[in-house]
Amino acid sequence: MSGLVTPSIESLVAYEGGKPIEEVAREFGVASPIKLASNENPLGPSPKALRAAFEALNSVNRYPDGVAFRLRHALAEAYGVGFAEVLHGSGSNELIELVVRTFCTPSDHVIFGQPGFAMYPVIAMAHGVEFTAVPTRECKHDLAGFLQALQPNTKVILIDNPNNPTGTYRDVSQISDFLRQVPPEVIVVMDEAYFEYVTASDYPNSLELRHLRERLIVTRTFSKIYGLSGMRVGVGIGPAHLMNYLNRLRPPFNVGLMSQEAAVAALSDHEHVASSRQHNTTERERLSQGLAALGLEVTPSQANFVLVHFDRPTRSLNQALLERGVIVRPIPMLPRALRISVGTVAENDRLLTALAEVTS
Ligand SMILES: Cc1ncc(COP(=O)(O)O)c(C=O)c1O
Repeated sequence: MSGLVTPSIESLVAYEGGKPIEEVAREFGVASPIKLASNENPLGPSPKALRAAFEALNSVNRYPDGVAFRLRHALAEAYGVGFAEVLHGSGSNELIELVVRTFCTPSDHVIFGQPGFAMYPVIAMAHGVEFTAVPTRECKHDLAGFLQALQPNTKVILIDNPNNPTGTYRDVSQISDFLRQVPPEVIVVMDEAYFEYVTASDYPNSLELRHLRERLIVTRTFSKIYGLSGMRVGVGIGPAHLMNYLNRLRPPFNVGLMSQEAAVAALSDHEHVASSRQHNTTERERLSQGLAALGLEVTPSQANFVLVHFDRPTRSLNQALLERGVIVRPIPMLPRALRISVGTVAENDRLLTALAEVTS
């Protein structure tokens, strides 16, 4: 196949998400599997978002609003930023990819943490951009390590805070110091996919740190607490001239008509966000304690998932869980760990029971 694609695309392994519920039902003959593998909101979407999406369904003979005027307006107001500083993406994933695609040439360099969001290396490799993956320290991003990894051609730094798959975060003073120390020409992306779930009082809202450096882009998503993973809506917030460049490469109708309407409605449903956060806080704690009671080490998490460590490779454990209709997420880079999303009360109970069976 040589010559058909670039060597970096040749070496890529396609991103594998959590196994779909239907696939597990079919493959393992389980009547009703539960999915705790993709950090979705187990309470579902806001009823207001559902209604808005249904209403929009009547108009799908038309293309969506390519500039997402209503959505970006609502976001700009909610975040207290200018309209031109907000951009919509097909998930935040698309925006992160757009940053690398727009600003990096093959002679540039990108830095991110490892293990971190699994798409970062895929994005860098897909675009033939050299990267340094900085190992986490005690499951947290090693910000000093990021600074040491800087090269004269470093163009972009990607930081997910909280980090997926560890669930850990860096606090406001650590992130502020870091943002001050990164050279001004580097674009820092603060990926805050789990922002709304965080309960720690010293967690930074990077939108409030924009004065520390000009080249800062913050990403958020409707896939997590807003319960709209299937709608594919992400948000990027940054200086207008950077967003303007991203907009030049953005596919014209990247966020669908129903998705835009659902996101606008979801954004204003503060009650749904609050109850989802409350549920997650309570169940994250209960799940963590239940796992600890099974003798397992759990990395303290600020997100809607926990990283659980085992004393053996988890491949066969994962298989045994699938046979019981419980879908969790193996992490290829951490063969002795599993990432488990916080589910409903019943789902978490079922996970704990199944884990007790397969580990005894
Ligand atoms: C840290 C992080 N960033 C970004 C994403 C992308 O999410 P989406 O494209 O659905 O917004 C995810 C998804 O799991 C994530 O964990």
